[in-house]
Amino acid sequence: MDDLKSDWLGRIGAATDERALEDIRVSAVGKKGEISLKMRELGKMTPEERQVAGPALNALKDEVNSAIAARKRGLADAALDERLKSEWLDVTLPSRPRRQGTIHPVSQVTEEVTAIFADMGFAVAEGPQIETDFYNFDALNIPGHHPARAEMDTFYTHRAQGDNRPPHVLRTHTSPVQIRSMEEHGAPLRIICPGRVYRADYDQTHTPMFHQVEGLVIDRDTSMAQLKWVLEEFYSAFFGVTVKTRFRASHFPFVEPGAEVDIQCSFEGGTVKIGEGDDWLEILGSGMVHPKVLQAGGIDPDEWQGFAFGMGIDRIAMLKYGIPDLRDFFNSDLRWLKHYGFGALEIPSTHAGV
Ligand code: DAH
Repeated sequence: MDDLKSDWLGRIGAATDERALEDIRVSAVGKKGEISLKMRELGKMTPEERQVAGPALNALKDEVNSAIAARKRGLADAALDERLKSEWLDVTLPSRPRRQGTIHPVSQVTEEVTAIFADMGFAVAEGPQIETDFYNFDALNIPGHHPARAEMDTFYTHRAQGDNRPPHVLRTHTSPVQIRSMEEHGAPLRIICPGRVYRADYDQTHTPMFHQVEGLVIDRDTSMAQLKWVLEEFYSAFFGVTVKTRFRASHFPFVEPGAEVDIQCSFEGGTVKIGEGDDWLEILGSGMVHPKVLQAGGIDPDEWQGFAFGMGIDRIAMLKYGIPDLRDFFNSDLRWLKHYGFGALEIPSTHAGV
């Protein structure tokens, strides 16, 4: 009995995995296991023999069973220890750096422009980028034969053969939003319209898609003097220095009189500095809204008058942030975006109260 016991306990102790342990259990105390077979032999013994062998075999069976259970726990613990060792993780290590996106200069400047004009009571209006030729041209007093149509390098959409209606265009400026806003809200009106515009043109300062912001004020007694004040107020807030403007008489079909506006700058040392020096930089078109344009927008020119202006958003972004090539704005080069982009939590310096 002692040999039997040390044999089985030895084998249990030597088992290195659960499978081996299970095989041992079957061959020791399973139905046909050695100990089970021995217990069956009890019936053939004399009562005296049985009285000795019975309890001894039972005790042996219990001991083998509990040795197996203990070994099983031991193996499981060892396996867990092994896993913990290989899956160990230092939670105190710093995390991997995560790439953060940036706000595109066009978005940033649009925000800045909107904030400054909002301070002056302007609301934001938007219109479609695919526009009818009525809104893009006719309603703005640019008739079919007018040279301005040709000058704008317009992208036309396609009409089916036999369809003689004038094709839609990709809007060439934000001015059509003037008409749409007049139609929708009537007078008085004080809006800016930022957005994308399209012209077939491509070089360092031109891309086929770019951004403009239109301004429109309609009231009973608006004037060029107010226009000048609004623009000087805007440029001074935008560039963070006092900026003088110079008005030069110019022609745009949708205004009368019309003016091109220059801002004071210096070109010394090969860089443009706004708000100093005695040079001028052409920056925008403007004027008093043409009576025909008011009429096209459903507003009575005998009762109301307005001023309007339009300028390039990308252009003033390049000036303010020293970005040399417009084409880079739209190349989606991550290095450029990281360099010229803005942090999502940076508040534009032009926002009120900052
Ligand atoms: N729409 C003109 C352009 O894209 C810019 C412009 C000039 C807008 C004069 C105006 C304005 O509102 O009064 O070239």
